[in-house]
Formats: sequence, C-alpha cells, structure tokens
Amino acid sequence: MNIPVENPLFTYKINPDLAEIDWDYVISLFYKINWKHRKAEEIAAAFKNSTTTLFIFNDDQIIAFGRVVGDGRYYAMLADIVVDPDFQGQGLGKYLVTTLNNQLVDYHFVNLSAAPGADAFYKSMGWKKQTTAFIWPQGPKQLRQHCEED
Ligand SMILES: CC(C)(COP(=O)(O)OP(=O)(O)OC[C@H]1O[C@@H](n2cnc3c(N)ncnc32)[C@H](O)[C@@H]1OP(=O)(O)O)[C@@H](O)C(=O)NCCC(=O)NCCS
Repeated sequence: MNIPVENPLFTYKINPDLAEIDWDYVISLFYKINWKHRKAEEIAAAFKNSTTTLFIFNDDQIIAFGRVVGDGRYYAMLADIVVDPDFQGQGLGKYLVTTLNNQLVDYHFVNLSAAPGADAFYKSMGWKKQTTAFIWPQGPKQLRQHCEED
C-alpha cells in the first residue's frame, strides 16, 4: 500500500536516536489516549529493543509514533501505533502503519493486535483478521476484549 504523502509541516524520523526522545512526554501521549499501563523507563527500554521505531514531530513536539518488534527476518509485530488526538484524522496513523509495514517485505509473518474499536482502521489499509492467531490472555480485561468465546 502507498504511504500517505508527508505533511511538510511535520518531521518524520525512522529509527531516530532514542536518547533524544522525551519518554515522559511519550507517556503523556499514552495517557492522552487512555493507555495508562506504561512507565517511562520501561517504554524507553521497549523501544530500544524494537527492530524499527518511527516518530512524527510538529516542531520539536512528538505527535505520533509506532514501532516494530521482531527478529529482523521472519517474524514481526507492529506495536504502539499512536497519534496524538489533536492530530488525528490527517493520515498520520496510516503513515505509521504503511511505513513500518514497508520495512517488512519478505517476512514470513507480520501481525498486530488491534485495540478494541480499531478494526476498521486496519481493514481500511488491507490488513486481514488472522484466523489462526492465539493469545495467552494477560488478565480478565484481555480475555474480555481480545478473545473469542470457547
Ligand atoms: C487509530 C489511530 C492510530 C488512527 O490514527 P489517525 O491518524 O487518526 O488515522 P488516519 O488519519 O491515518 O486515518 C486512516 C483511516 O482510518 C480511519 N480511522 C482512523 N481511526 C479509526 C478508528 N479508530 N476506527 C475506524 N476507522 C478509523 C480514518 O477514518 C481513515 O479512513 P480514510 O482513509 O477512509 O479517511 C489513532 O486514532 C490512535 O492513535 N488511536 C489510539 C491508539 C490506537 O487505537 N492505536 C491503534 C490500535 S493498536
């Protein structure tokens, strides 16, 4: 799928120097979208352990980010696809997903776990529901939100 045209007002950085990222600000964006179970030092370590990271800035302020967790060759998962609500609806989410996905040509498995309500977002870009996926639910909320009835 084609990557949406870049907005010249924004700066797009793939695999930036993660030492320059303000992780407390990243956490504030997670809070803004109501994902409240991450800590600054842990998310910094998680991004450092990712195979690809992507950040979008308005001036020096982070407005969107996403990452790929993978083994570098066969298996990869897109994670933490986030756009600041103040900048949603401008194609940035689509840009994150298509740019990260374009890094994964020739991989054997590329997948992701959509947040509840985000199915249509991924389907609009051609992603398919995986009939063979299994999850080990990390608690009752995941069991409720991500699992089929037995
Ligand atoms: C989901 C999210 C990343 C979309 O970012 P965005 O920048 O607003 O998305 P875009 O502007 O690129 O929209 C792309 C398309 O998806 C649609 N879309 C966006 N969010 C959607 C949603 N939650 N449900 C259904 N469709 C959605 C848009 O209408 C648009 O459709 P179009 O191309 O036909 O106009 C953003 O809403 C977000 O950060 N949400 C909170 C975190 C989250 O749910 N992340 C993704 C799940 S892991």
